[in-house]
Amino acid sequence: MVGNVTLVHNGIIENYSELKSYLIQKGVNFNSQTDTEVACAYINYVYENMKDFKDEDERKLKSILKACLDFRGSYAFGIIFKDTPDVIYSTRKDSPLVIGLSDEGNFIASDISAILDYTKKYILLNYMEFAKIEKDNVTIYDKNLEIITKKINEATWSATECKKNGYEHFMLKEINEQPSVIKNVYSRFFENKDENYSKVDFSKYTNIHIVACGSAMHASLIGKYLFENYANIPTTVEIASEYRYKKLLLTPSTLVIIVSQSGETADSLAALRISKENKATVLGIVNAVGSTIAREADITIYTHAGPEIAVATTKGYTTQVATFACLVINAMKQKNIKYDFTLENEYNNIDKIIQSVIDKTNEYKDIAKSLSNRNDIFFIGRGNDYNMCMEGSLKLKEISYIHSEAYPAGELKHGTISLIEEGTPVIAIATDKELYEKTVSNIKETKARGAFTIFITTEEFKDTYTKDFADITLFLPTTSLFNEAIIIVTALQLIAYETAKLRGCDIDKPKNLAKSVTVE
Ligand code: G6P
Repeated sequence: MVGNVTLVHNGIIENYSELKSYLIQKGVNFNSQTDTEVACAYINYVYENMKDFKDEDERKLKSILKACLDFRGSYAFGIIFKDTPDVIYSTRKDSPLVIGLSDEGNFIASDISAILDYTKKYILLNYMEFAKIEKDNVTIYDKNLEIITKKINEATWSATECKKNGYEHFMLKEINEQPSVIKNVYSRFFENKDENYSKVDFSKYTNIHIVACGSAMHASLIGKYLFENYANIPTTVEIASEYRYKKLLLTPSTLVIIVSQSGETADSLAALRISKENKATVLGIVNAVGSTIAREADITIYTHAGPEIAVATTKGYTTQVATFACLVINAMKQKNIKYDFTLENEYNNIDKIIQSVIDKTNEYKDIAKSLSNRNDIFFIGRGNDYNMCMEGSLKLKEISYIHSEAYPAGELKHGTISLIEEGTPVIAIATDKELYEKTVSNIKETKARGAFTIFITTEEFKDTYTKDFADITLFLPTTSLFNEAIIIVTALQLIAYETAKLRGCDIDKPKNLAKSVTVE
């Protein structure tokens, strides 16, 4: 609180030190080092100096608007003035904000799941829109402070979906939801229940840029693998925070795909906007309905994973992979590329197959015991197996706080193998027939240097497999290549989960991490 103004802020005011120096010159004192206090003090300063207004309401709204014009960065604000403690003023730029509407009162939150216990009705604000929120009334204004009418949305998620429902952690609950949400992605596609797939005409595009952050970027690597191997479309995967500042070699025949569970990740959103400015067609693969990326993409395909509460994504990632599988099948159909329909047959049983992976709890617990007291763990694989390693390694490090790295198995000898010591765990993934022997040779190299080796493969290799190089072997169901990452990564999620549990970590809320990164 500064003077007349109290506020809550989600985001970062990038030019806060500039504004702070200005305010210090004007005699304002500060109690903290935060940009939020500067935002609060600045709105208060503008408010106190605001002349030329019809009434107190206009003065408050105008001072917020004027201050916001001087802020650089991102914000969602809830602002209360001292003399009207029952009124919340609100506005946003680049940070998410929902205004929940109910008969008992109205709310602001940064995520729909936070309001579902009270209401399903909500309003979304655009940049330079302002809300005056009272217990029984919400008024929205445009940048000229004219009253406007906004659409009232109805959330499709329920409050029960946002509860643990008997599971020890949200992460475990969400892992267990994968059989049904993956089946749902495929039935929506194969039973033609989602018209958005047909809006993407792959015969128009000669290349694809997939842009995302974190696990969504890892899901995109699987997407690249499928697009290149099956639909013959050259595809690059770009980290959104890099993409937004690099030279974009976009042509009118480039399709940009932005992948985001939350639909609010700041870097992914910036990449979307830059791509659109460069006249590219943008396809969004998004989970959160009505989120900014979903609204701003030219075409949006929802993954329908339902609310994901655990910070470490699980069903968010696997539904993205399944959505890529559907897109690639569609691309093949449109380009008249023959395929053997394995996926179409497989999807009828996919829920049971994933459930059988989840049910191997004791095996995950055994693997976790061998990892939980180690400091460094390596994941190795080749081709698409390496893409899965990246997600497995990220999952493990984010929730168990054990240092882990994913390496293309063939790269080990170019440096990393020097880190292998007696007992260092090496998890090797080998699901690809063409590369199986190569990966086996690489795991043997680590075993020869003392590594504790954990070998993850599929049942189709049970006959060729020899026991000599693996301390622990995990056999998982054989599926088509379209579903392999879903199967393997589900197991890796559970290995990470059991390891973090043994270490007593705060699984759903790992330290220093946020579910939705709405700042750069
Ligand atoms: C954060 C989350 C990750 C997620 C990434 C991208 O880092 O902790 O789990 O993969 O953001 O989020 P998005 O919502 O864009 O998929």
